[in-house]
Amino acid sequence: MEKKMKGDKTDMGKVAIYPGSFDPLTYGHIDIVERALVIFDKVILAIAQDAEKKSLFTVEERVEMAKMIFKDSPNLIVDSFKGLLVTYVEKTNAMVLLRGLRATSDFEYEFHMASMNRSLSTHLDTLFMMTSKDYFFVSSRTIKEVAKLGGTVEGLVPDLVARRLKEKFKLPVTKKRLIGWDD
Ligand code: PNS
Repeated sequence: MEKKMKGDKTDMGKVAIYPGSFDPLTYGHIDIVERALVIFDKVILAIAQDAEKKSLFTVEERVEMAKMIFKDSPNLIVDSFKGLLVTYVEKTNAMVLLRGLRATSDFEYEFHMASMNRSLSTHLDTLFMMTSKDYFFVSSRTIKEVAKLGGTVEGLVPDLVARRLKEKFKLPVTKKRLIGWDD
């Protein structure tokens, strides 16, 4: 009897899970999703509800933004999960985890996470995709820091995210202040 493999063609196509905090979603993440959709039939963007870090946006807000951003991508499914990632993966028909890799500085953290997940679930592989050169310096953490201090994040996150960041930080309308000798 032919064995039905998890995530293979006999089972709604090849499915990858792209997990993360996505707090908030950046063009770096979107670039990974778009490239992954060329390889996989379905990609599940799995937004962690209780990641170690304290999030700026609630999981509901992150899910809502992601659904709006990917509304024209039927093969991208937005979901959230709580607890162990491997437990969530077991409930899906995904064949691999997908993570973006920006630089060598990401490697250690990613290596530990992939190894731990592999140890918890021996058949689970993590696939890494290099971030495109335009987004090597983009991280959710720096986006939040720049936005909080009133800097522009235009071109690095979708307009929706940029607007929500402004709302979150209740940024005042900035006025130009000319700096001169009598300051
Ligand atoms: O975008 P992030 O914050 O780097 O994503 C990290 C995330 C959410 C993928 C990771 O923290 C995670 O999988 N959290 C769920 C809890 C878990 O399974 N931990 C064990 C893996 S080391």
